[in-house]
Amino acid sequence: MSDTAVPFSTRIRSATEQQHAEAENSSFITDMLGGGLGIASYRRYTTQLWFIYRALESRWDALANDPVAAPFIRPELARTAALERDLAHLLGPRWRADIAALPATAAYAARIEECARDWPAGYIAHHYTRYLGDLSGGQVIRGAAEKLWDLPRRGDGVRFYVFEDIANPAAFKREYRALLDELTVDELELRRVLDEGRRAFALNTAVFAELAAEFPARRPS
Ligand code: HEM
Repeated sequence: MSDTAVPFSTRIRSATEQQHAEAENSSFITDMLGGGLGIASYRRYTTQLWFIYRALESRWDALANDPVAAPFIRPELARTAALERDLAHLLGPRWRADIAALPATAAYAARIEECARDWPAGYIAHHYTRYLGDLSGGQVIRGAAEKLWDLPRRGDGVRFYVFEDIANPAAFKREYRALLDELTVDELELRRVLDEGRRAFALNTAVFAELAAEFPARRPS
């Protein structure tokens, strides 16, 4: 089958498969979920997510009127409010004054904002990379965080991972993939979106690398 005959949802998954494996097995994620880094690493990671989702969600009103991006703007995906509850629990009521974006996070958020403003099809690559991932592997992170740091099950501290308004994530993901398959842009533009998907994964990996440098795992010497 030529590339253009393959559904776009399959193409974007294949285009980022290798990078997904790298992200999943990054030393920061492995060490944090393995219990080697302590809750400070989870706090710092969650604050980075807040900057990323603020960038993803702050232009939803405008994107909801864009012919290409509109079908992807679904209020049940919104994560900013959930992250704010998590941060209040993890850092206390003054959390906003205490957080800062890592350089890699600032660069990632800036790229998302640029796409949201100037290139809605490119924005979809970022939307896909985060939300479809959160609906999938995010559940592994939630389970580990609840156990490791004694956080209330599906409660404050892990609300980011709980999509209260999505009763059937598998069905939601199927619908989401259908939206990707129905994108009404030409082949050249689809290829640019695939490139942006790879870039989105690379931006995530860069955040993990900076988190790993800040939270080096204690390894036997
Ligand atoms: C603990 C780390 C991770 C685990 C265990 C994990 C696990 C998974 C699993 C099991 C799926 C397949 C779900 C399915 O086919 O329905 C998946 C899909 C996905 N993950 Fe991850 N993941 C992790 C990290 C990440 C990261 C860091 C990103 C990017 C920021 C990401 C983005 C995605 C995307 C976009 C998909 C959807 C692939 C597709 O079907 O098109 N994941 N993940």
